[in-house]
Amino acid sequence: MAGVRGVADPLEEVFSSALTRRIFRRRWVLLPDYVPETLPHRERELRRLAEVLAPALRGEKPGNAFLYGLTGTGKTAVARHVLMRLEGKARELGVAVRAIYVNVRQRDTPYKVAASIAEGVGVRVPFTGLSVGEVYERSVKRLKRLGGVYIVVLDEIDFLAKRPGGQDLLYRLTRVNQELGGNAWVSLVGITNSLSFVESLEPRVRSSLGEVELVFHPYTAPQLKDILEDRAREAFNPGVLGEGVIDLCAALAAREHGDARRALDLLRVAGEIAERRGDPLVTEEHVYAARIEIERDRVGEVVRGLPLHAKLVILAIIRRQGAREGKSVYTGEVYEEYKRLTAELGLEHVTLRRVSGILGELDMLGLVKSRVVSRGRYGKTREVILDADPKAILEALQEDPMVARLLED
Ligand SMILES: Nc1ncnc2c1ncn2[C@@H]1O[C@H](COP(=O)(O)OP(=O)(O)OP(=O)(O)O)[C@@H](O)[C@H]1O
Ligand SMILES: [Mg+2]
Repeated sequence: MAGVRGVADPLEEVFSSALTRRIFRRRWVLLPDYVPETLPHRERELRRLAEVLAPALRGEKPGNAFLYGLTGTGKTAVARHVLMRLEGKARELGVAVRAIYVNVRQRDTPYKVAASIAEGVGVRVPFTGLSVGEVYERSVKRLKRLGGVYIVVLDEIDFLAKRPGGQDLLYRLTRVNQELGGNAWVSLVGITNSLSFVESLEPRVRSSLGEVELVFHPYTAPQLKDILEDRAREAFNPGVLGEGVIDLCAALAAREHGDARRALDLLRVAGEIAERRGDPLVTEEHVYAARIEIERDRVGEVVRGLPLHAKLVILAIIRRQGAREGKSVYTGEVYEEYKRLTAELGLEHVTLRRVSGILGELDMLGLVKSRVVSRGRYGKTREVILDADPKAILEALQEDPMVARLLED
C-alpha cells in the first residue's frame, strides 16, 4: 500500500491512512461518555459515595447524596463508577439492587424524568396522555409489589428544578420511602454543577437530598496529568505522544478551572489533528491547534443556536469594534448599530432594554464580557467586550441565510 505514493490517487491515500491508524489504538477511551476503570484523585469521593449506598447490599435503605462542583470535576464519572460496581456486587450476592440513571438535561421535563424512573422499574409509559402524578403512582405501586432497593441518580438536576412542576416532583421523590411503607427503598443521588442551584433549592428538599453532600473540587495541573496519562496509555499507540504534550494539555485545562473533560478533549483532538495530517507524532503544536479547533466548535455551536436578534446584536458588536479589535464598546453604540442592521433587513428592532437583556445572555454563554461603568455626569452605562474569536463567530453567522445577507460585502 505504501507503493501508491507516486500515483496521484487521493482516495487511496485516505483509505490506507485510515487502515494503518498510526496514532490511536482506542480513540473512544478519550470520549466523554467512556467510564474509565480507575479515577485517580477521586478516591475519597468514590469511597464516600460507596459508603452511602452500600447498605443496599444488605437490603436496607441507602442514604441520599448530593454531588456538586464545577464542570468536568468527575461527578458523573464517580457516580457511574460506583453504581456499576454496586450493581456488580449485588448480582454477585444475589440481592435486588437496581440503579436508575437519568440525565435530566436530556430528559428535561418532570414528565420525562418520571417516565425514565418508571421505565427503570419496569412500568411501561406512553409518551403522553398521563399526568406526572399518574406515572409516579404507577411506579410506586409497582415498587411496593417488587420490593428491592433502587438508586435513582438525577444528573444535572438543576434542569429539573427550573421546570414548572420540577420542584414538586423532587419533593415527592424525597418522600417516596414513606409511601413505600418499607416494602422497597429508594435512594436519591442528585448531581449538579450549578452552585446557584444549590443555594436556590427549597430547604426541605435540600436537607433531604443533601443528607450527604460531596463537593468536587477542580483538579490541579499535576492531577490532570495523572488522569491524562492513565487514559492516554489505553487510547494511543505506544510512543506516539511527543514530549510535553500531556503536560501542556494539563496546564491549559488547569489554567481555566481544572476541568478534566477539557483536558481530555485537548488530548483527543490533538491526536485527531495529527492523524488527519498523517504526522507520526502528536506534538505541542497539535495541542495548540486543538485548542483553536475546540474553541471554534464551541463558539460555532453557541452562535448557531442563538435567536435572530441575538445574532444581530453580536454582529453589531463586531461591527462597532471594527479595527479596534479587543476593545470594549458601549451598549448605546451597540444598540445604534443593531438598529441599523435591522433596518437593512427591513425588520422591527427590539427595545434597548431587551438588547441589554440579550447582552446579559451572551455574557452567560461566554461570547462577550460586559460590566457596568460609570461615565461621570452621564450616568452609568455598560461596556461590552467580545470574549470569543470574531472569525469563528462570523463563520457561524454566515450559516444563517438572513444574517448572511448583511455579510455579503
Ligand atoms: N479522576 C478522573 N480520572 C479519570 N477520568 C476522569 C476523572 N475525572 C473526570 N474524568 C473524565 O473527565 C470527563 C469529565 O468528567 P465528568 O463527566 O465526570 O464531569 P462532571 O463533573 O460530571 O461535569 P459536568 O458538571 O459538566 O457534567 C469524563 O470523560 C471523565 O471520564
Ligand atoms: Mg456530569
